[in-house]
Amino acid sequence: MNTRYIKNTIFCTHIFQFKNEPLARKLLDHIQNERIEGIESNVAPNLKQNLSESKFDLFDRDHKIIQITKNYIASCIKEVLNDIQNEKFDYHIQFYESWYHICKPNSVHEVHNHANCSWCGVFYLKSGDPDSGGKTMFNSPISSNYGDFGTLHLNEEAISVTAADGKLLLFPSYLRHYQSLYVGTQDRVVVAFNSRILGKYTSKS
Ligand SMILES: [Fe+2]
Repeated sequence: MNTRYIKNTIFCTHIFQFKNEPLARKLLDHIQNERIEGIESNVAPNLKQNLSESKFDLFDRDHKIIQITKNYIASCIKEVLNDIQNEKFDYHIQFYESWYHICKPNSVHEVHNHANCSWCGVFYLKSGDPDSGGKTMFNSPISSNYGDFGTLHLNEEAISVTAADGKLLLFPSYLRHYQSLYVGTQDRVVVAFNSRILGKYTSKS
C-alpha cells in the first residue's frame, strides 16, 4: 500500500453485456413479418440513414413474448444496479420508450444520446452479417481540452461493441454513441429501449 498519497478513482462508466439467444429468436418471430416504412417513430430521422424504425411503443403491446422480454430485461437492469450500487434491492422499472429498427445495407445511425431516462439498452435480435461493420460505438464521456503523453490514460477513443444474436447491452443514458456504417447484405434487427427507475424496495429474495 502506498503511504505517500491517496488515489480516488472517480466518474466510472459501466456498460454491461448479457446474452439470451432463445429470447431474441422468439421476439424476432413476433416482429419479423411486420412491414415498417422509414422512421415511423419520427424521432431524429436526420441522424438515421438506410434504416427503418418502428414507433416507440413496442413494449406497450399486450403480448406474451413482450411481457417475457420486459421481465427479462428488467431482471438484468436490477442485477446491474445492485452490482454497481453495491446493494441488494428490487426496483420499479418503467420502460419509458421502446422500439426496434431494421438496418439495411449501408445504414448508419449518427452520434446521439437518449433523453429523459437513466438506463438504456440495445437487444440484438438478428445481427445479419456481424463482420460487416455496424458496430455500436460509445464515445468517452470525458472530453479533455488538451492532449499529450499525460492524457494517454484517458482512453478518449470510442469503444466498440460488435452485434451478436441475443446480445443485450445496457448503458447509462448520458453516454453518446452511434452505429458505424453497416455494409452487410442481410438485414440487422435491433430492439432498443429507455428505462426509468421509479422505486427501490427491499428485495424479496
Ligand atoms: Fe441510441
